[in-house]
Amino acid sequence: MRICGTVSQTPLKFPSNHPGILLSPNDEAERDHLNFYHAVQMEIWDKQLFLGSLTEKPHRVLDCGTGTGIWALDMAHQSPSAEVIGVDLSSIQQTWVYPNVRFEIDDLDQEWIFTT
Ligand SMILES: C[S@@+](CC[C@H](N)C(=O)[O-])C[C@H]1O[C@@H](n2cnc3c(N)ncnc32)[C@H](O)[C@@H]1O
Repeated sequence: MRICGTVSQTPLKFPSNHPGILLSPNDEAERDHLNFYHAVQMEIWDKQLFLGSLTEKPHRVLDCGTGTGIWALDMAHQSPSAEVIGVDLSSIQQTWVYPNVRFEIDDLDQEWIFTT
């Protein structure tokens, strides 16, 4: 058997602000994977963003380890009166957001700065 061509290996990209913490990369392939996984979960859970019942409309929502922010964006769209904050080590969130969403880059293993 003759093998032609070369196999190029793309180096995985990890967030540089906290080297060594994350096991998963934050490159485009991983972002696609996270968004695809979110879509699969939405199908599995009958398009429910969360399980359980709320007695009132949410006012503030904190998405810890928001990744691409896709869940936070869907949650903000579903709950326009809520303020939704997505936090992650990696700055991989899209730049277009609903007015009631914001993303913060922070390490959730460090002291929390969020107030109730
Ligand atoms: C498996 S991904 C989940 C992303 C998103 N919640 C979703 O369902 O698509 C886990 C996320 O947690 C973030 N993460 C891990 N450790 C963290 C930490 N100490 N502080 C903030 N974010 C962290 C990672 O950067 C990654 O984006």
